[in-house]
Amino acid sequence: MFRSRVSGIGSYLPEKVLTNQDLEKMVETSDQWIVERTGIERRHIAAEGEATSDLCLQASRRALEDAGLKPEDIDMIVVGTVSGDRQMPSTACYLQSKLGCRNIVAFDLNAACSGFIYGVSIADQFIRTGMYKNVLVVGAEVLHRFVNYQDRETCILFGDAAGAWVLSRAQDGDKQVIASTHLHADGDLADLLTLPGGGSAMPQSQYVIDNKLNYVSMRGREIFKNAVRTMALCCKEALEHNQVPPENVDWIVPHQANKRIIEAVADQFKFPMERVIVYLQETGNTSAASIPVAFDWAVKNGKIKRGQTILLTAFGAGLTSGSILLRY
Ligand code: UT7
Repeated sequence: MFRSRVSGIGSYLPEKVLTNQDLEKMVETSDQWIVERTGIERRHIAAEGEATSDLCLQASRRALEDAGLKPEDIDMIVVGTVSGDRQMPSTACYLQSKLGCRNIVAFDLNAACSGFIYGVSIADQFIRTGMYKNVLVVGAEVLHRFVNYQDRETCILFGDAAGAWVLSRAQDGDKQVIASTHLHADGDLADLLTLPGGGSAMPQSQYVIDNKLNYVSMRGREIFKNAVRTMALCCKEALEHNQVPPENVDWIVPHQANKRIIEAVADQFKFPMERVIVYLQETGNTSAASIPVAFDWAVKNGKIKRGQTILLTAFGAGLTSGSILLRY
């Protein structure tokens, strides 16, 4: 059995910024309410003509450069997204072509905001078995195109971004490896957060457009409660599985949905917020991109360092959730 390590990381935020003050002009809301209830101050928005695969490309190039690898070294591409370029084919296939990779395995996975955790777990399995040596995992969203800018409960939350990791086969005895990945899903809670229209259950129609069913629909308070519950459980599971006490974890990088959710999860372990990465003030909730984007920012800003023990945890529509414990 082989182990995998994070050999390169990268992220990309589109240039255009949508601030809370901009949103004040669009819906009945205030900068003060948004900051107090979510911690978000601004989010980045893809430019016209910029698609999810374009964001993936920027983040992936940075991750490849960080890993010291070329596109032809990659054996598989996994893209976690719910806002891909098209319903078909996958964004991963567009990315494969744009990067100039070989004709390697490339696919998207839909685990919403847990998409990156799911992707890293899948990549880790392929590396552990010896099937592949270098796998590119990307979490990317252009969610602002699927948000109703008349619905103040959702439009204040989401932003666009991409984050990428290259996972590579570790050398024997290397301690800087992925220690564990755990994934979960509870389909009984699927309707709490959906994009109802446009799929086979409710094909695109005038009715869908008139009733704004082609946009994200969310039961915010229920999602909030389940987010705290599932991310806390996921952290506990990872720590117990690896017999690592919380004080031995250098950083937690949680899904960046709402600062109050993150604080409530940390509180369950009496884990100090000084060792929790929070970057949502700049990005909003970027779904599958949120963890690799926050992680990259924390590395570039001298917070996360090589050799440290990091716990990642996510939750998202599905409801999906999961955790990863790794030494970076
Ligand atoms: O990746 C998963 C994605 N989703 C999430 O993570 C969302 C999780 N949920 C949340 O983050 C929070 O539930 C929200 C931020 C969406 C809402 O915050 P809340 O503290 O749960 O607010 P609430 O739903 O309890 O609403 C309190 C009040 C309501 O007014 P009334 O009924 O008390 O008069 C809302 O209508 O706040 C109102 N409200 C707003 N006011 C100003 C809701 N959205 C806004 C807004 N601006 N944008």
